[in-house]
Amino acid sequence: MPSSAIAPVAGAAPPDHAGASAARKARFWDRIALKYAADPIADLAGYEFTLRQVEDLLTADQDVLEIGCGTGTTALRLAPFTRRLLATDVSAGMIAIAREKLAAQSVPQLSFAVADAEEPVAQPGEFDAVLAFNLLHLVTDLDRTLQLAVQALRPGGLLISKTACLTELNPLIRYLAVPVMQAVGKAPHVLCFDADALQAAIARQGMDIVSVERHGTRGKDFRVFIVARKPA
Ligand SMILES: C[S@@+](CC[C@H](N)C(=O)[O-])C[C@H]1O[C@@H](n2cnc3c(N)ncnc32)[C@H](O)[C@@H]1O
Repeated sequence: MPSSAIAPVAGAAPPDHAGASAARKARFWDRIALKYAADPIADLAGYEFTLRQVEDLLTADQDVLEIGCGTGTTALRLAPFTRRLLATDVSAGMIAIAREKLAAQSVPQLSFAVADAEEPVAQPGEFDAVLAFNLLHLVTDLDRTLQLAVQALRPGGLLISKTACLTELNPLIRYLAVPVMQAVGKAPHVLCFDADALQAAIARQGMDIVSVERHGTRGKDFRVFIVARKPA
């Protein structure tokens, strides 16, 4: 397979996963939502570095959409740097936890909604930035997800993503560990790509790549941080 290819893990995804209903996509994440909320962030220093980079890119006059927000940890941190942050996730379980967290503090810029990033979430040109953290390797149709994210942006708007590039992992993890975990329901559907393929997919949607970075602070970082701008 050429390194620029984007594909599900070999033999792991059910053949009908592409085009799966939102309910089906949410099933795995609903099941693990409580555990996901309780687990500590694996690389806290790398996470904080990413947050500072994103904070520097956001301004208080921006409307921002987050797709695949999980339990809202990042949205709660970033919303004060925006005029409005709509944070969405396909999993009602994740969003229920995010709303509980929001109810415990005052972040007037922030709201949460259950929404599939592979279906239109926003009006065309509604947002100044779209955030996608640890999501793009989990969708079923990367091109459609990116197309909708770009469509939601105003001219000059930013797409900011940090995502696992599974092709950069040891093949044993990709071809053995992940399929086995998927078979026993311990891992979700995943797409495999490297950073070049992800950049190319973003550029195919007419975006200009602004920066490509790695923020991990522990050994080799297989998650790429990409900022791209919609031409004005
Ligand atoms: C690994 S978690 C990341 C959550 C959060 N962004 C973070 O960085 O902690 C992936 C999230 O993407 C969500 N997700 C998966 N497929 C999705 C889709 N098609 N549309 C929206 N959210 C999706 C899952 O429900 C889950 O909450």
